Amino acid sequence: MMHNFDAGPSILPKEVFQQASEAILNYNNSGLSILEIGHRTDLFQAVMDEAIALVKELMQLDDRHEVLFLHGGASTQFFQIPMNLLNDNEMAAYTETGTWSGKAIKEAKLFGHVEVVCSAKESNYNYLPKQFTVPKTAKYLHITSNETIHGVQWHDFTPFYEAGVPLVADMSSDILSRVIDFKKFDLIYAGAQKNVGAAGVNIVVVNKNILGKVNRKLPTMMDYRNHIENGSMLNTPPVFAVYVCMLTLRWLKQLGGVAAIEAINNQKGKLLYDAIDSLPVFKGTVIAKEDRSLMNVCFVMDNTDLEKEFLTVCKQNNVVGVKGHRSVGGFRASLYNALPLESVKVLTELMKDFANKKG
Ligand SMILES: Cc1ncc(COP(=O)(O)O)c(C=O)c1O
Repeated sequence: MMHNFDAGPSILPKEVFQQASEAILNYNNSGLSILEIGHRTDLFQAVMDEAIALVKELMQLDDRHEVLFLHGGASTQFFQIPMNLLNDNEMAAYTETGTWSGKAIKEAKLFGHVEVVCSAKESNYNYLPKQFTVPKTAKYLHITSNETIHGVQWHDFTPFYEAGVPLVADMSSDILSRVIDFKKFDLIYAGAQKNVGAAGVNIVVVNKNILGKVNRKLPTMMDYRNHIENGSMLNTPPVFAVYVCMLTLRWLKQLGGVAAIEAINNQKGKLLYDAIDSLPVFKGTVIAKEDRSLMNVCFVMDNTDLEKEFLTVCKQNNVVGVKGHRSVGGFRASLYNALPLESVKVLTELMKDFANKKG
């Protein structure tokens, strides 16, 4: 068995791989492959409808919120959001907590003013800055709930809820991994390729009431309202990617929903962080323990030769995807929803064994 800790695209439930591969050969006993059915057929409409309904149910959204499945990855949302929400002479507030929020800020500056209300750039994003004020004049506040590269995750959203301006969140790497009051957000987006499905599709949850307030002309494909009107089928949607999302969302519902997966994710995170904290040869890169991510666990060793040796040990034991991002170094173990607790046990046993030999 492989233990896949990749940061994304990443592990999905085994049942989803099984069902998706069956659907490639014969979708729902139609005699057709999921890859050859038209997106305007009843066969695919049922997939889209179920996927949207499952997101609404799992997130406990209300009628203000629309769920969209869009192309372009989360990176397209970096510019589509300010394009739809921010006039040239207006300002949006951003928290700068890692590489991904940095990229969102860069794109937003193309459409209006950006006020960075807090930044941990100086310390290579090894904590979350909590002293900040969001100006009431901001058109919206943008946060990145989990920074995939630096391994920091917001655990308390109260200051954002209290900011009193529309709240926008990039939840690419922790969507549906823990209980959050999703209704309190006005726009949530996530590349699906981590917790929700295959690469090639984005989930966007948007409060309709914040749309239609900018005065620039929007290209048809960039205007969220057109996607809402057309039920995420303004053009050909990424049919197979949406199908894999639907299967993964079904799996999550059957498991007991977000609260159930949160309990498992907490166990996985505790197991790995306890190993890091108790073995002197390993060191967590996030200095503020309360900001550590339960999805992307980053750690290093003092000696890069030892790091290489441990990577080899991992490989020999079918533990893959643990090499850290080059901007942080060391290791990054991603503990997304579909990763079994068993895999974390295997990794921590390898760490203990290695520490005993080298410590
Ligand atoms: C937090 C976060 N935001 C945005 C992105 C960019 O996503 P995409 O590659 O789908 O454009 C990523 C990719 O890993 C991410 O982790």
